Amino acid sequence: MATTLSVSVWRGAESGEFRIYEVPRLESQTVLDVVTYIQRNLDPTLAYRFACRVGMCGSCAMTVDGKARWTCRTHVASVAAENRLEIAPLNNLPVIKDLVTDMSRFFDNWARAKGRFHGMRSRKDDFARVMPDSPQRKEVDGAIECIGCGVCYSSCDVVTWNPEYLGPAALNRAWTLLNDVRDTARVARLAAVAGDAGCHACHTHMSCSERCPKHIAPTAGIAGLKRAVVAAALKGEL
Ligand code: SF4
Ligand code: SF4
Ligand code: FES
Repeated sequence: MATTLSVSVWRGAESGEFRIYEVPRLESQTVLDVVTYIQRNLDPTLAYRFACRVGMCGSCAMTVDGKARWTCRTHVASVAAENRLEIAPLNNLPVIKDLVTDMSRFFDNWARAKGRFHGMRSRKDDFARVMPDSPQRKEVDGAIECIGCGVCYSSCDVVTWNPEYLGPAALNRAWTLLNDVRDTARVARLAAVAGDAGCHACHTHMSCSERCPKHIAPTAGIAGLKRAVVAAALKGEL
């Protein structure tokens, strides 16, 4: 193993440039370790975002050698060909500074897709229960694990072409709520995801499902939304 790594890091905002840093290589080093080394030892003005460092918060996502990844769970050894690494902010989102993107549009899309639970009970009622072995609960077994990291959104070509597109994560969220037997906003949610910027804009490229670090398949949920929208339209609900 070579002793140093040559790392190109995006500096600036929408306009900027890659700058190269020489970083010592270490055993079991992650890409987030590399970014942290640069910020602590070579350039304290480098801006980046992280919190948990163990793949739970989703805040450390960046573009590493052209692909969106969680940097805390990406080992340098698995990506650094010939001891070079390129680290950039996530695609499809405005850059605030260096490796930090503005996630507002990503989360606004969750609201546009009616990604908020609407229950039917008051706080005086007993808990509403979801049976773990019910078909609807099993349908979204993987999808409910989304941690909102933005990797899928950043990897989706349709978002690049059409920034109004709700994107895989917001549609995945809508799909989980559509299968939540306690929720009461089914028709409003289907109407929210039915438009030109909704589920029918997905071209099933699968990049989201291939890149999701949680192995969620938003494409499958989006296909389910397409079927549900058509069924609701045929019933005259939309
Ligand atoms: S679906 Fe996967 S890639 Fe997309 S935001 Fe959720 S966890 Fe991240
Ligand atoms: S499957 Fe659909 S949502 Fe996922 S990356 Fe492709 S176009 Fe985007
Ligand atoms: S720092 Fe939390 S997922 Fe990487």
